[in-house]
Amino acid sequence: MSDAILAIDQGTTSSRAIVFSPKGEILATAQQEFEQLYPGEGMVEHDPQAIWSSVLATAQAAYREAVSAGHKILGIGITNQRETIIVWDRKTGKPIHNAIVWQDRRTAQFCRALSEAGHEALVQDRAGLLLDPYFSASKLNWILSNVDGARARAEAGELAAGTVDSWLLWNLTGGEVHATDATNACRTSLFGLDAQDWDQDLLKLFDVPRGVLPDVKDSADDFGMTQAEHFGEALPILSVVGDQQGATVGQACFEPGEMKSTYGTGCFVLVNTGDEIKKSENRLLTTVAYRVGGKPTFAMEGSIFIAGAAVQWLRDEMRLLKNAAETAERAARAQADADVVMVPAFAGMGAPHWSPDARAAVFGMTRATGPDEMARAALEGVVYQTQDLIEAMKNDGLDCQAISVDGGMAANDWFAQRLSDILSLPIDRPKVLETTALGAAYLAFLQAGVFSSLNDVRQNAERDRRFEPQMPQEERARRLKRWKACVQAVLSVAEAG
Ligand code: G3P
Repeated sequence: MSDAILAIDQGTTSSRAIVFSPKGEILATAQQEFEQLYPGEGMVEHDPQAIWSSVLATAQAAYREAVSAGHKILGIGITNQRETIIVWDRKTGKPIHNAIVWQDRRTAQFCRALSEAGHEALVQDRAGLLLDPYFSASKLNWILSNVDGARARAEAGELAAGTVDSWLLWNLTGGEVHATDATNACRTSLFGLDAQDWDQDLLKLFDVPRGVLPDVKDSADDFGMTQAEHFGEALPILSVVGDQQGATVGQACFEPGEMKSTYGTGCFVLVNTGDEIKKSENRLLTTVAYRVGGKPTFAMEGSIFIAGAAVQWLRDEMRLLKNAAETAERAARAQADADVVMVPAFAGMGAPHWSPDARAAVFGMTRATGPDEMARAALEGVVYQTQDLIEAMKNDGLDCQAISVDGGMAANDWFAQRLSDILSLPIDRPKVLETTALGAAYLAFLQAGVFSSLNDVRQNAERDRRFEPQMPQEERARRLKRWKACVQAVLSVAEAG
């Protein structure tokens, strides 16, 4: 019997619930995938009710399993896909439109127009972000402008908006709480990093009424109580954190310079910059890593939109794979001299290129190219993109000595070794790869008083394996040159329209 936290991890393609002990041991888990909706070119939506019902079902299942094994659930921690935006009716709790997902590019033209009008400097200065459809503000503007009567209803105070964490809080508490935390708020493009509050000028720029937005709390905070009917008892909600920031906490990156890279649907590299709001000269983002006791800790972030999603594409759309795990074996047996390169720009390109119109391409195919070579090219495409981020970070003056990896793809030994080879850096893989949910659980334990500070987490951090670079430098340089040429080609096609 031990005290435990029920962590809800609402990701882009599935909802998961994991019960953790204070030592970071997994005591129970449940997972459910849900439907991805592609209503048009470059569009990605989720049904908010499907998000909520998959979260409730998995949370209830993990709760039951842990409680019947004798554990006591102290409360809930929430971590979530970021930027995805939902607008709902405050009275009925019904969404007025599907969730517009972070990968959705429908507002590319709107963002380009703002950028051409010279507004990017304001966005970067206040929010630490760039003008790209990735972030929530342009998507929220789209819903308010395109759903009949939405803007007037928003101005009249009838609508609530929020990222997925806010939607879950609202539903878990039966409409009692409309809140978010600073790590999620800072991904909207409406939140001032310095002021740690919604920014009037940004609200004006994106034409969003302040009244639709949630209250912004710390990542470890009092987020209210769940309705008793969900778990047979009312549970306190003790933490909320965006999934990439959750992984930063789960990996115990608490000192400036400590860095993690998470491979889920996309790949997100975050490096802790302490209390410094460090602005990038190389098109990286500045973000809140976590906010505890009213004090924000910041990070610099490189965001790649497609990582595991490239493997999913090979499995689900191309039907070249039965499961994601077989990519390791396939990559290892792919023809050694095949030079197939995949630029996985299925949802445009993120950092450091920021090209919403870019689309994926495969270069270097011959008649001998088959599923093995394609599997290797998909994994390598993610590796090369990570290298582009590391290069940008180094150019921003950050000292990269080693990277801690996590997420599904990090379990793949071939991938981890190739990452070390191409980054020419040691890659550390922790024992627990579920660091996103773990970070939410740690913050909840902190709020529950089980930990006195986040430093208590450090003793839990156990490494599974370190991968060291093995590839000769000339080979690495040859590959990177080829990769850069392929990216250039993809960007030129995007520019040609
Ligand atoms: O910014 C998007 C990110 O939060 C999505 O994370 O885990 O679904 O790849 P994931």
